[in-house]
Amino acid sequence: MSEPSVPVADDPFGGRHPTSHERQTGLSWDASYHDGPSPWNIGGPQPAIVRVASEGGFAGAVLDAGCGTGENALHVASLGLSVLGVDVAQTALAIARGKADDRGIEVEFEVADAFALERVGRRFQTVLDSGLFHTFDADERPAYVASLAAVTEHEGTLYVLCFSDTGPDTGPHPVSREELRAAFEPTSGWTVATIEPDRIHTRYHDDGAPAWFATVTRI
Ligand SMILES: C[S@@+](CC[C@H](N)C(=O)[O-])C[C@H]1O[C@@H](n2cnc3c(N)ncnc32)[C@H](O)[C@@H]1O
Repeated sequence: MSEPSVPVADDPFGGRHPTSHERQTGLSWDASYHDGPSPWNIGGPQPAIVRVASEGGFAGAVLDAGCGTGENALHVASLGLSVLGVDVAQTALAIARGKADDRGIEVEFEVADAFALERVGRRFQTVLDSGLFHTFDADERPAYVASLAAVTEHEGTLYVLCFSDTGPDTGPHPVSREELRAAFEPTSGWTVATIEPDRIHTRYHDDGAPAWFATVTRI
């Protein structure tokens, strides 16, 4: 999990403890944005997010945790909601801010570590995690879930779109339904409302990869 430490000049992790994904790949998340579009950059929002937004699923102040280049945050903000997208990848955030300017959409993008969201100093009624939860291993999840709880209002809603372990052609880091339930058990300050099969679209899957769309309520 990501313990704050003293920032060091030229540290690709910006003083953070690298996440399990970064330790496994040997690269900072920021590096994923240096050489053209990453596998998850599909040039628009995830269809699951568009669907939930069209059903009125986003309300109040919205946080997009691990927003990447911001397509989901931009989509939700374009509907008139107040949205903050946070990420550890400065390069992704610069791209996201450029899109917001080009499209004339009012939205905020800030560097923040998902393990220390309380440092953002705000609370949110709706929180989105599109493709972040599944990058954390089991040891990291409790701290991440607690960090989300610290910034989510009582009875607020968290959406988690993550790769699932069901069906062929699963994405990297597949997560089981049981793992999702365990991560958000009531002692963590959350209750799982629904976990539905869905798809995560990537540059390498014609019709998306198997996913879960979890709706989780802050107790
Ligand atoms: C697979 S990408 C998904 C990006 C975006 N949400 C989407 O749906 O396209 C995961 C994102 O989470 C960010 N991320 C990883 N660890 C993070 C952390 N500890 N705090 C904040 N963001 C993090 C990465 O930089 C990356 O942009």
